[in-house]
Amino acid sequence: MFLGNLSSDSRFADEANLFELAPAKINLALHVTGQRADGYHLLESIVTFADTGDRLGFSDADADGISFSGRFASLLPTSVEGKHGNLVLKARDLLRKALQDKGVSAPPVAIHLEKNLPVAAGIGGGSADAAATLRGLMRLWNVGLPAEELAVLGLSLGADVPMCLKSEPLMARGIGEELTALPDLPSLSLVLGNPLVGVSTPGIFRRLTQKDNSPIGALDGDWISFLKMLRNDLEPPARSLVREIDQISSLIGAEGTMLTRMSGSGATCFGIFPSFEAAEKAMENLNGQKPEWYFQAVRTVGQVPERIQ
Ligand code: C5P
Repeated sequence: MFLGNLSSDSRFADEANLFELAPAKINLALHVTGQRADGYHLLESIVTFADTGDRLGFSDADADGISFSGRFASLLPTSVEGKHGNLVLKARDLLRKALQDKGVSAPPVAIHLEKNLPVAAGIGGGSADAAATLRGLMRLWNVGLPAEELAVLGLSLGADVPMCLKSEPLMARGIGEELTALPDLPSLSLVLGNPLVGVSTPGIFRRLTQKDNSPIGALDGDWISFLKMLRNDLEPPARSLVREIDQISSLIGAEGTMLTRMSGSGATCFGIFPSFEAAEKAMENLNGQKPEWYFQAVRTVGQVPERIQ
């Protein structure tokens, strides 16, 4: 887990009592298998998490507050109000209410969010921030909630929040809340690429017209060969809506990936590389070609394999 000590960044070291990483979530495969009566889609997804992401600091304070930094900070909502309210603030308020209902105090807190991940990008930034807020505040307030209660609370913030609470390789089913750990999924070296075009998740689900509802099934052979046989069903509707996805996917693929695919509802695409050095080299090349876009080499969590097929 990412229960951090103080980071090397002086802002976190000086001001935050503690900090949490909110790792980027990557859907290595995502099959839509049906739809519930309430409109939510049933899916099966192989999910892993990067070793980088947003960072959040939490400090005791006289009054609640939030501050922002990072490349994408200016794109965040600053208020808790409304459907698109800030998920960090929503998570804080929801946890506080749950604790106060049990007679547990949840004093004021100053939160700092360093927003390093692009927003509305299919890599769970908002969900990861909400999950990191729940984890961080439980540490700051020295309280715990039963895992099941925490997962329900997380799910009320968003379908991806329960998986982000775990931040480990897993298979997600249901609408994303039925989670099974995948301890054998190895650490992978990826490049994430995003053309900085925000994508609305409901808009992509609405455009879904695929006919193949086949599930993912059991691991067959090595992971890379298995992943290659799978798909992201949200990729065709996202590509039809955001034409830059074709371009970024081709650019990443041209760097010599073992697999190139879109994550979540997009527009972030990832390429899997044989080594982290190869991923870093690809990131440099891609940044040279499209300096205005976002490219990041990451390692995913999981056991480091002796060799990737
Ligand atoms: O739960 P969350 O707020 O992340 O979901 C955003 C929207 O994405 C939902 O309102 C729904 O339209 C769509 N969605 C879906 N099936 C899922 C997850 C999300 O249809 N499993």
